[in-house]
Amino acid sequence: MAVTEIEAVRLSPHVGAELRGVDLTRPLDAATAEALNALWLEHLVLVFRGQSLAQEDLLRATGIFGTLAPLARPKDEYPKGYAKLLPNIMLISNIREDGVPIGALPDGEMMFHHDMLHAEVPHKGTLLYAVEVPSRGGNTLFANGYAAYDTLPADIREPLEGRIARHHYHYGSTLKGDGRGTKASAASRHPVFRTHDETGRKAVYVNRLMTEEVEGMERAESDRLLAALYDHAEKPEFVYEHVWRVGDLLLWDNRCSMHARTDFPGGERRLMWRTTLEGEARPR
Ligand SMILES: [Fe+2]
Repeated sequence: MAVTEIEAVRLSPHVGAELRGVDLTRPLDAATAEALNALWLEHLVLVFRGQSLAQEDLLRATGIFGTLAPLARPKDEYPKGYAKLLPNIMLISNIREDGVPIGALPDGEMMFHHDMLHAEVPHKGTLLYAVEVPSRGGNTLFANGYAAYDTLPADIREPLEGRIARHHYHYGSTLKGDGRGTKASAASRHPVFRTHDETGRKAVYVNRLMTEEVEGMERAESDRLLAALYDHAEKPEFVYEHVWRVGDLLLWDNRCSMHARTDFPGGERRLMWRTTLEGEARPR
């Protein structure tokens, strides 16, 4: 396809664009890849509808936007029915075999978060491809962190400017074990407002799910400011809510946006393939 055949349709005032005229089952030329990267920086979230991707296609599409991040998974340990799951593709699913979820993050609602914020160098982006979706719910909400920063009232922004926040995340491996998963945790420190490596713009870089506290501040003051910041950053005006269809591929920028998941019926199947892009620099 030629660059000129790609149409970008804005999905909300601040975040998200659906790209039409892109077939990700075929390799893209350098000019098209460059155009897609520019659109990604502009819109933060890209939506490609109606893709019929093989796992190889997802890995190739991931490579358009950066370096595929390795996924820690014991060798030869695949969920039932996924003996051919390619390395570095993660299953996000509530489907259970013998009572054990075959994928990660199986059930229900998730609060707003930045993927891998608990890492020293968080992943720069995430790709998620819908294989099976429930009849309702399981939507993903994306919030533009630049717009939140740009409109933040001074009484919240000024005391947080230049500060570092600490983040914590407890997670469980659902690929083996008893279904409750093996608990693990990780922690990190990053700026409250991150300057994007490529655009140079500042964005809110804390979230309700993972951020513990702002350093060098009374805990009560930190809690008060963070709560006010979350309330502002999660306002519907900064958010695009994606209703998934089978064949949707989404890509989001973890450096300047956060996302959340709505609840969905536990008795219905939801299966997504996920890949992530390596972070290129420590957040500053
Ligand atoms: Fe996430």
